Amino acid sequence: MSLAVERFDARSWPASELDQLFEGAFPPYITADQEAKAYIGRVREWFADLNIMLVEDDQVPVATGWAVPIGWNGNLAGLPTGYTDTIRRAVEGHEAGERPDTLVICGAIVRPGRTGQGLAAHLLTALRGLAPQAGCQRILAPVRPTLKPAYPLIPIETFAHWTRPDGAPLDPWLRTHWRLGGKIIAAAPRSQTMTGTVAEWETWTGMALPATGDYVIPGGLSILHVDTGEDLGTYTEPNVWVRHSNHHGDL
Ligand SMILES: CC(C)(COP(=O)(O)OP(=O)(O)OC[C@H]1O[C@@H](n2cnc3c(N)ncnc32)[C@H](O)[C@@H]1OP(=O)(O)O)[C@@H](O)C(=O)NCCC(=O)NCCS
Repeated sequence: MSLAVERFDARSWPASELDQLFEGAFPPYITADQEAKAYIGRVREWFADLNIMLVEDDQVPVATGWAVPIGWNGNLAGLPTGYTDTIRRAVEGHEAGERPDTLVICGAIVRPGRTGQGLAAHLLTALRGLAPQAGCQRILAPVRPTLKPAYPLIPIETFAHWTRPDGAPLDPWLRTHWRLGGKIIAAAPRSQTMTGTVAEWETWTGMALPATGDYVIPGGLSILHVDTGEDLGTYTEPNVWVRHSNHHGDL
């Protein structure tokens, strides 16, 4: 069995293969971040060289992930607020002709049925390896903890530091980053904000949302606030900032 790293756009994959790869990776409301929508097209176009695919035996796409380059002063106070602020900074920095210094790993997906086999570590290692070509000495990731939906009421600042008896992070995805040497450096309580009408949220969640209030929703890392008077549902998604060392081993 061989595993190769390719650019995502190196070949045009059949829709059925891509559907299988992405199936169930995220809840339907993941694309309801209106601000991110304004930037994602330019991200895909301008940073296509930082969007990769892991291909097994030259035919099966088993994992994919992408990153963007930003400028960051290395201080906690200078961190982006989260995912959306990261892609905004990447796009605006590129437009302004700024030289980036920090690679931010923004997405990672392992094909369902192939999780738990170490492919995520391969993928993260390949993504980190893109830093030199992007001119970056620092590496960050706003991590979307996969176990957080089991604890939607717990603040991310608390959840991020929960560990198992062996000292490893309780969250499996944070654990994978941690095993590769990643360090939790900050919480990002407002990484993304998803908004929609009440009817849209009813479709995305499969729930009736009859009254104004706070709701626990399927796959939600935090709660959904519904305002029926405004016909608006607002969900703010938290992430955890993880810093990785670069190819010199520097954090
Ligand atoms: C997050 C993701 C990339 C991790 O990939 P992975 O290949 O499972 O990662 P690993 O093999 O390193 O597994 C990490 C841990 O999760 C556990 N795990 C993996 N799949 C699991 C599953 N379906 N159920 C329960 N635990 C699982 C593994 O056993 C491992 O635990 P361990 O530390 O005790 O060994 C993958 O689950 C995924 O694509 N999820 C959907 C998209 C997503 O949330 N991406 C991250 C945000 S962009």
